Amino acid sequence: MKRIWSMAVLIVSATWLFAGISVGAEATGLKAPEAEIIIAGEKKSARFSHPVHLNIGVDCGQCHHDSNHQPLTDKNIEAMDTGEQLLCASCHNKDFANSKLQTPKAAFHARCKECHKQGVDGKQGPTKCTGCHVKK
Ligand code: HEC
Ligand code: HEC
Ligand code: HEC
Ligand code: HEC
Repeated sequence: MKRIWSMAVLIVSATWLFAGISVGAEATGLKAPEAEIIIAGEKKSARFSHPVHLNIGVDCGQCHHDSNHQPLTDKNIEAMDTGEQLLCASCHNKDFANSKLQTPKAAFHARCKECHKQGVDGKQGPTKCTGCHVKK
């Protein structure tokens, strides 16, 4: 009787263990934040919404790339453990090889402002300072 009881406990705990693993796997998959984020600089900050940009058909890789400047896909990003490698300033800082892209300001203005000027399918983004910048 005791033996059957411990078998039952074992089976139940194994089921919980597997349930735990599958929930865990879903939870670690990195996804684009739904909420607007604030990109903090030293003196200024800027606001950025993923949904606004994904809705007009911009791919992850138009902004996110790896250390070889290869575009990252949503699958690449989902497989990451942390968002550390996505932070632009983790590469674009004073140690960056190309001196024109050593500050977040340079990297962000080149990416964000340039596209806003060009537009996507006739839609343009804000190009005035206050269109992106918010008070710190
Ligand atoms: C398309 C969006 C966008 C527009 C328009 C824009 N910026 Fe920025 N800018 C950013 C982002 C993003 C950053 C990086 C985050 C931060 O530092 O605020 C940045 C960084 C900066 C920084 C560095 C701030 C710091 O604290 O390190 C300065 C200075 C700056 N911008 C000035 C300006 C000025 C002046 C204008 C208008 C002529 C302007 N920006 C227009 C997006 C924009
Ligand atoms: C138009 C540009 C742009 C596009 C497109 C874009 N992102 Fe981002 N993403 C950013 C910026 C900017 C940040 C903030 C980076 C920083 O603070 O240095 C960010 C941050 C993130 C973060 C949070 C990192 C952290 O830990 O804070 C995740 C996760 C992310 N993006 C996933 C995605 C995924 C997945 C896609 C495609 C479905 C995507 N992004 C498309 C610009 C973009
Ligand atoms: C893992 C390191 C790394 C990260 C993180 C990174 N970059 Fe880059 N980036 C590079 C490399 C490498 C190049 C190529 C430099 C060259 O050609 O001299 C580059 C080039 C660029 C360029 C110039 C070429 C182009 O594509 O127009 C811009 C603008 C840029 N990055 C913006 C960003 C922004 C914005 C982010 C955050 C969303 C970001 N980078 C995150 C490594 C990185
Ligand atoms: C590939 C092109 C592209 C890139 C890169 C891009 N944007 Fe935009 N952005 C747009 C377009 C187009 C719109 C207008 C969308 C609309 O009207 O639906 C827009 C709208 C916006 C708006 C106004 C809508 C809102 O959220 O209130 C802000 C703020 C903004 N972008 C910030 C940024 C910042 C900051 C970056 C860089 C981290 C960036 N964008 C990169 C194309 C781009």
